[in-house]
Amino acid sequence: MKKNIALVLSAVFALAIVVTAHSQEDMTHVGNDVFPDPQRSRAVFAHEDHNLAAEIDDCSECHHVYEDGEKLEYESSEDMRCADCHELASVGDQPSLRKAFHVNCMGCHLQRKKGPIMCGECHPKS
Ligand code: HEC
Ligand code: HEC
Ligand code: HEC
Ligand code: HEC
Repeated sequence: MKKNIALVLSAVFALAIVVTAHSQEDMTHVGNDVFPDPQRSRAVFAHEDHNLAAEIDDCSECHHVYEDGEKLEYESSEDMRCADCHELASVGDQPSLRKAFHVNCMGCHLQRKKGPIMCGECHPKS
């Protein structure tokens, strides 16, 4: 009986590790694996610390959902990657993947006059 509980507990523990390893809490950079031939280093983005410091509570600020060109107020898409919707080239009003990232990140930094806008600040040389 005791052995079974220990087994269940270790299984739960192992699962917890697997789950946290893929959560935004551990994220330090945005993955560039979706670009076929990346030219720059992965962009620095410590998801949780960044959003706390920038005081962004609304996930849909970045993980948005659009319907007929309108951003839906109470929907978000954090279970998807930007590349699930944004293609390498722009389609109509939907910006290309690279542009989507740059407009999202730099757009806000410019607007708030806070956060990096120079290439090397987000894509460090090494
Ligand atoms: C505010 C942060 C930020 C700044 C500033 C920024 N980028 Fe990016 N860039 C990103 C993010 C995020 C991505 C997508 C994820 C990734 O590449 O890690 C990206 C992707 C790219 C890509 C496509 C992926 C690749 O490596 O080929 C290129 C090229 C690129 N950036 C070049 C630049 C250049 C050139 C500048 C300066 C004019 C610049 N970026 C400034 C955040 C930034
Ligand atoms: C400032 C922009 C921004 C905000 C705000 C934001 N995220 Fe993210 N998040 C990102 C980016 C960029 C990625 C990477 C997307 C990609 O790879 O296509 C990401 C990835 C994720 C991932 C996947 C993590 C992984 O390791 O694969 C989860 C889960 C997530 N975010 C949840 C959330 C939740 C929940 C909120 C609201 C509490 C939130 N995000 C707010 C930008 C943001
Ligand atoms: C569920 C699909 C979907 C996902 C996931 C998605 N987008 Fe979008 N995005 C769209 C559509 C559709 C548009 C075009 C909106 C319009 O019609 O003007 C758009 C427009 C944009 C725009 C231009 C308008 C604006 O809001 O400034 C940016 C920038 C952008 N997306 C960045 C991102 C980033 C960064 C991510 C990932 C964190 C992301 N998107 C995830 C569907 C998506
Ligand atoms: C809605 C606004 C907003 C969006 C979207 C946003 N940022 Fe920021 N970012 C900020 C603010 C505000 C700061 C300054 C926070 C502070 O006061 O330290 C900042 C700071 C940063 C910094 C420097 C501090 C740190 O956390 O290392 C980096 C790097 C950064 N942002 C990268 C990004 C990237 C990459 C994206 C896109 C995936 C992004 N940001 C999207 C608002 C935003």
